[in-house]
Amino acid sequence: MRFCRDYDTLKVVKVKDSRLGVLYYLCAIAIFAYIVINLVLSQGYLLKESPIPGAVRVSLHEPATIQTPSYCNGSTPCVYWSGIQIMFVSSYPTSNSVPIFVYPADAFASTFLTTRIVVLQYPPQPNCDPIISKRPECIFSTRQPTNTSGIMYVADIESYTLMIEHSIRGKENALAIRNGLMDGSLNFMNGTVLRTFTNATRMRGVDGDIMTVKELLLAAGADLDSGFEFLGF
Ligand SMILES: *[C@@H]1O[C@H](CO)[C@@H](O)[C@H](O)[C@H]1NC(C)=O
Ligand SMILES: *[C@@H]1O[C@H](CO)[C@@H](O)[C@H](O)[C@H]1NC(C)=O
Ligand SMILES: *[C@@H]1O[C@H](CO)[C@@H](O)[C@H](O)[C@H]1NC(C)=O
Ligand SMILES: *[C@@H]1O[C@H](CO)[C@@H](O)[C@H](O)[C@H]1NC(C)=O
Repeated sequence: MRFCRDYDTLKVVKVKDSRLGVLYYLCAIAIFAYIVINLVLSQGYLLKESPIPGAVRVSLHEPATIQTPSYCNGSTPCVYWSGIQIMFVSSYPTSNSVPIFVYPADAFASTFLTTRIVVLQYPPQPNCDPIISKRPECIFSTRQPTNTSGIMYVADIESYTLMIEHSIRGKENALAIRNGLMDGSLNFMNGTVLRTFTNATRMRGVDGDIMTVKELLLAAGADLDSGFEFLGF
């Protein structure tokens, strides 16, 4: 019966010392403040990370009616192009009407929109089809254009609409959200919001953020009329 006589229990000691008391309460307050700040204010109970950009897809569509802008009535004529032609550099061989679309080097987070063009026509080798070239001497050559147009503007490019579909994903966790499920905004360079994209502003069943080229240029602070030198034209 010896084990019944020995047991451990707690003993409460009341410390009557003002210096130890102050230390005790300071520690208690510090622990309480830590819990409030870490858990409640900075949401320390959540696993957080900065999302990284996922896929981005940009498409361009012509407006329902293309207006003839005043710059088309000047000395430089205009071409009326569809969105798919403007998004890519295109060239037409003379022998047939099939366009060759040359995709520009795909740079991350960039899109190529044609605003003015020069058309060069290259004759195919004699008795050759420049696209289905079945003999080595038929290979398409861009050495001597027979016909070079002057500069032509793409009419009403600022009214064309861009649809940008994009997503974010996490690195550590499996988070992946497409923009159709997120609220977003198009901002000026100084951070001021130009327009927002929410479920309320989005078209039903369309996941992408839709804006006109004009809005994008406005947000970027770019002006096509003054930008040609800068853009290297
Ligand atoms: C440019 O010319 C077209 C056709 O000639 C005309 O419809 C259009 O209104 C003109 N635009 C301007 C801004 O003068
Ligand atoms: C040169 O281009 C112009 C405009 O596209 C066209 O009208 C003309 O027929 C072309 N000439 C030749 C020789 O292909
Ligand atoms: C937008 O709508 C989708 C379903 O249509 C919903 O899953 C999503 O949570 C909504 N987004 C916001 C920010 O309300
Ligand atoms: C940001 O830039 C836009 C366009 O230039 C301008 O309208 C707006 O007032 C600017 N906002 C601030 C806070 O400077």
